[in-house]
Amino acid sequence: MILVKLGGSVITDKSRLKTFRKASCDRLCTELGQARKALAVVHGAGSFGHIEAKKHALHKGYRSDSQIQAVASVQRDVRELNLKVLGSLLDSGIRAVSVPPASAGSFSGGKLRSFSKAPFEMQLDLGLTPVSFGDVVPDRTMRFSICSGDLMMEALAKAFKPKLVVFCADVDGVFDRDPKRNPRAELITEFDESSLRSMRRTEARHADVTGSIYGKLERMLVISQHCEKCMIVNGNVPGRLRNAIAGKQVVSTLVVPG
Ligand code: IPE
Repeated sequence: MILVKLGGSVITDKSRLKTFRKASCDRLCTELGQARKALAVVHGAGSFGHIEAKKHALHKGYRSDSQIQAVASVQRDVRELNLKVLGSLLDSGIRAVSVPPASAGSFSGGKLRSFSKAPFEMQLDLGLTPVSFGDVVPDRTMRFSICSGDLMMEALAKAFKPKLVVFCADVDGVFDRDPKRNPRAELITEFDESSLRSMRRTEARHADVTGSIYGKLERMLVISQHCEKCMIVNGNVPGRLRNAIAGKQVVSTLVVPG
């Protein structure tokens, strides 16, 4: 099986509320459609989730009744995005079905406490492509919390041991410095535990409602222990995802365990 995350920064314009990047999403789905392999997809929330979730501090859990309206509307918004992604996938010939995180997992303290692979397995057995996403979820201790798409990627990687895991980002991979600010930033082609340790010192302490880059990379390192190959590719460059799936050499960061 191949497990792919379509990052929210690729399929949406993260700076503009609820702005779907249809052309990018359609192209990525066409590339996925050419894979002809068993597939599970997870997508981020991008500007359909992050902006309002941050505004109402939904990642901190219940603080006051004033957040409840936002719990409902962010849930609605990420489903709106999910429907758009399903549309792109179906148009590309992929028989996609939606599996929201809370239908497979239960959460407390912002963490996934139990996960059932059955809802995904049943779809895969039928030749369908399950599609999950970052979402607002019920949480036993916080009353609600945010489940990131990356958390679902980790759960799915552990449950299905995919051959290949691909994260589609809006950059070529992990750089030694912020490539958006520093033109001399260099791509790290192989990222491991020691790369993470050296990042701790230099990491920009920038975090959104699902955490910092550091936390995301920590999670990818865990994922890399449960698959043959885990990589980050630039989803904005046509062909990168298709070539990565075809096993060709592509500009990327390979995330390797140990
Ligand atoms: C975010 O999920 C979920 C919500 C804010 C509701 P992700 O963290 O996976 O989304 P992206 O990929 O960063 O946009």
